[in-house]
Amino acid sequence: MDASLSEDAKRSVALYSEFLKKNRISIPDIHAVLGSGLGSSFVDTWIPKNWKWVADLAFKDLPAITAATAPGHPGIYRFFTETTSNRTLCLQVGRLHGYEGLPPSEVALSVLIPRLVGTQNFVITNAAGGLKLEWPIGSIMMIRDHVNFTGQNPLTGQVLNGLDGKPIGPRFPDLSRAWDRKFTESIRRELEAASLETFEGIYLGVAGPSFETPAEVRLFAQWGMGTVGMSTVWEAIALVHSGARVAGFSLISNLGCGLNPGVVLDHFEILEASRSAAQKVTAALFKLAETPVLSE
Ligand code: HPA
Repeated sequence: MDASLSEDAKRSVALYSEFLKKNRISIPDIHAVLGSGLGSSFVDTWIPKNWKWVADLAFKDLPAITAATAPGHPGIYRFFTETTSNRTLCLQVGRLHGYEGLPPSEVALSVLIPRLVGTQNFVITNAAGGLKLEWPIGSIMMIRDHVNFTGQNPLTGQVLNGLDGKPIGPRFPDLSRAWDRKFTESIRRELEAASLETFEGIYLGVAGPSFETPAEVRLFAQWGMGTVGMSTVWEAIALVHSGARVAGFSLISNLGCGLNPGVVLDHFEILEASRSAAQKVTAALFKLAETPVLSE
């Protein structure tokens, strides 16, 4: 059985689409979700010379999604165009999380609305706890694969139909190539060019909002996971299901709880750690958006 999108979701897709038209913005070549601290204040003050900010659309103006509540996550879609090529980048500053009390389907809508309007390429970023002692704080783990350890899935329920009345994707989507290799490599090149150190590994998504216990961190590390965080997996599943191209990375903002004896995890310190890498990360995303995306 399949079902229609809710009226609020349809209305949100229409509003997003009208917003682009009204502001003469073409469908973004890349939509990047900026994790904790990564989209902080400097996005207001610094953008590369060859790009210009065009307009902002706030989550609160779309009826299908709630305004984000997590500190460091205001929840806006911010649109930029490259002055000569007219290429378009959407930086999503802030995101929704399950720990705010939202169902996975609503968290997924924050990226599915842009997807249904036509965006094809998504970069999902997060700040996360590192599970490998040799990966320094401030370095980046490219997501090769993920483990959804939240116990929930955004595709639970009937398969939704898109605006064309056809299912957005299959009942049992294959996730063996969820994280696009070539797209990942192009992002990695830009991050390295922005002098960020990069690794590659598996992101494990938990529900939060409590941080992990040392026993959980030891377990995840023994399983070979690279980073742990409270986001990303639902957005990725919903996007892959819809046929989008997805890549992403974790900024390692701290070591997993207990790996650094004596250090107690604090959300505001984590935000600070990601803020210090934020400008380099964003510079890399603008560069990435300057050339067409290669995929497998
Ligand atoms: N655990 C879960 N989520 C996080 C962490 C962490 O250590 N750091 C940043 N987000």
